[in-house]
Order: sequence, then C-alpha cells, then structure tokens
Amino acid sequence: MQENLHRSDTQIATEEHKRLSDIVKETHALLRIECQQYGAKAAWERHMSRSNVLQKYAASMQKLATKFWMQNNPRSGTYCRIEWIKFQCKEYFLNGGKEKYDVRERDISIKMTLGELNSENLQISKDNCDYKEGRLQNTYKRKITLLDVGSCYNPLSNEDIFDVTAIDLTPATNAVLRCDFLNVTIGEEEILSQDERELCQFAVNSFDAVVFSLLLEYLPCPRQRYVCCRNAYDVLKSGGVLIIVSPDSKHVGANAKLMKSWRYMLSKLGFMRIKYEKLRHIHCLVFRKCACKNVAMRWADLQSFSENDNKYISDGKIFIPQDFQSISSDKKSENIECEYDKSDLMSIFCELPFNNEALVDKNM
Ligand SMILES: C[S@@+](CC[C@H](N)C(=O)[O-])C[C@H]1O[C@@H](n2cnc3c(N)ncnc32)[C@H](O)[C@@H]1O
Repeated sequence: MQENLHRSDTQIATEEHKRLSDIVKETHALLRIECQQYGAKAAWERHMSRSNVLQKYAASMQKLATKFWMQNNPRSGTYCRIEWIKFQCKEYFLNGGKEKYDVRERDISIKMTLGELNSENLQISKDNCDYKEGRLQNTYKRKITLLDVGSCYNPLSNEDIFDVTAIDLTPATNAVLRCDFLNVTIGEEEILSQDERELCQFAVNSFDAVVFSLLLEYLPCPRQRYVCCRNAYDVLKSGGVLIIVSPDSKHVGANAKLMKSWRYMLSKLGFMRIKYEKLRHIHCLVFRKCACKNVAMRWADLQSFSENDNKYISDGKIFIPQDFQSISSDKKSENIECEYDKSDLMSIFCELPFNNEALVDKNM
C-alpha cells in the first residue's frame, strides 16, 4: 500500500518534471528556429513580445531548479553550479586569488615590455608584487558586487558576502530586475526605471563579478553571445571576473575545440582564463578582466588554428555545438519537439540534476 502510494507520487512528479522540461525545451527550440527563419534581430523581437511564453518559461525554470533538481539530489543538483560559482568568487576575492593574478599579470606585462625574462627584471616584478599584495589585502572588506545575468529566480542571493544584482528578461521573483542584457546601455551611472523594477542602464566598470549560468545557450546566435560577453567586460571592474557555466554532457575532450575558441575570443576582448573545470554535465569557467588588455590578448596571439578548427573562430562570435546542427526546412515550422529532443542542449535540461562525480580539471 505504502509502496503503491509512493510509486504514484513518483509518477506524478515525473509527469510534472516532463511538462516543465518541455516548456523550457520548446521555448529554446522556437527561438532557434525563428532565428534561422527571420534572422537574429527579428527573432529576438518576436521572442520578447511573447510575454506569456516568457512567464511560463520563468516559472518552469524556477520550479525545475528549486524543486525537482534539488529534490533528486540536493548536493549535486542545481547546487553544484551555484555552489561552484560562490566557491570560485570566495577563492578569488577573499582567499588571495585576485592578488595572485594581479602579480601574474604584472609579471607577464613586465616580460612583454622588457623582452625575455632575466634576473634583473625578475627582481623588479618581485618588488612590485610585494608592494601590490600589501596594498590589496584590505580590498574586499566590503561586499563583492555580483551581477547575475539571466538569474531567473536569484539563486545566488543567500550569502551575506555578496551584493547581488540579479537581472532577467522575465524575472521569476521580485528580487530580480527586468533587463535585456543584450540591448542594455552602459554609461556613466546605473539607471533604474521609475518603478525600480527594471534596470535601464549599467555603470561602466562597476561590478566585481558577472555570472552567466546557463545563459549563453539560451541565445540563438553566436553574435548575441559575443555581445553579452562584451557587455560583461564593460560592466566589470579591472581585475573583476566573468564566470560562465555552460551545459554539456559529453566528455571533457568532445568540445575542446569550442572551449578553446571561447578562450580565444574572450582573450581578444581582454579576458584571461584563470579557471576551467569540466563537471559531468557542465563546463565551468572563470575569466579575469585584465588590467592590461595586452596581457590577455597575448594568449590569443600565440595560438594557431588548423583549417578544420577555423570554423569555430570568427570575429565577434561565440559558438556553441548547436550552431553546427542544422534544422531541416521541413521541420522548421512543425514537430519542433521531436527535432529538438535529440539535441544536446535540450537534453541537458532533462538530464539535470547534474552529477558531480566526474570532476576533471583540464588546462585546455
Ligand atoms: C536556462 S535559464 C538559467 C537560469 C539560472 N541562471 C540558472 O542557472 O538556473 C536562462 C535565463 O536567462 C535569461 N536570459 C536570456 N537572455 C537574456 C538576456 N539577454 N538578458 C537577461 N536575461 C536573459 C532567460 O530569461 C532565462 O531565465
């Protein structure tokens, strides 16, 4: 009797999980299809005008993340990425990470200026290093200002050390401000709407950290992803970090070329990649906005790509695996679900919660 009751609860939960996942999947699928049909700008406008769809998406995403993924495995579910992000911020801002990279960046900068390292300029950089370390020790007595883009339900809010600004196209909770990070302006100061529900303008160089958790895959076109990264660069303070979490269930090497292309494009923007981990279902990356852009760009300048890999590299674009999967024209307008169930991005939302077992650290 008890078992029967339990089974039927499980069945109900499974159906609800499928229903919510389908809403998420179909929203992504429609946006990608319309992007191919109408172009990125028109597709985005159509998407933004469907407030009912966006609201259903937000509510479904929140429920999936806070109820289902947590329920199945609270230690690895949604927590795994959220906890990873918090941990990296603490390591960087509170446990000496930033100072370490300040020094590393300055050392590289000195090497670049003076040419090959010799014992004399090694001494110069060591002297600077000590000075800077001492000076920076007190920097993070204040809260870490963190911008969570595509926050949905504000999962990063529950820590005192962070001063979180959470934004989304369609907030799932009142703690999240409305804002389209693709089309927002960045100026001298932050501007809120009159009702204080919408962020209309960001102040340049104003955040310690920017988070894109499952954001880039939402955007259907490579240029849009690049624009978001460029905007992140502009709102970050020098030495601040962009943290990206991106779904991928494949093994660490499967999309290594794409990961390298992200690093390349972000280097060109002025970011140095300081952390990369592949968890079982996600890539987790931290990029630092270098004080000296040349230092970040140096990594990109040293790279070469084979003809085959060139398809992943294009100015002002950030690619994801879905960009290389074609949608056949007869499937564009019908049977969306069937087509997209096969794609990796879509299946990731079914496969969650993430399993933390296969933690791999690679210096790709
Ligand atoms: C897959 S959800 C991820 C939610 C949350 N960050 C997490 O990790 O669970 C992607 C979110 O990004 C939001 N989003 C997509 N494009 C955006 C944009 N241009 N500006 C702000 N939010 C955006 C969507 O509305 C959606 O809530």
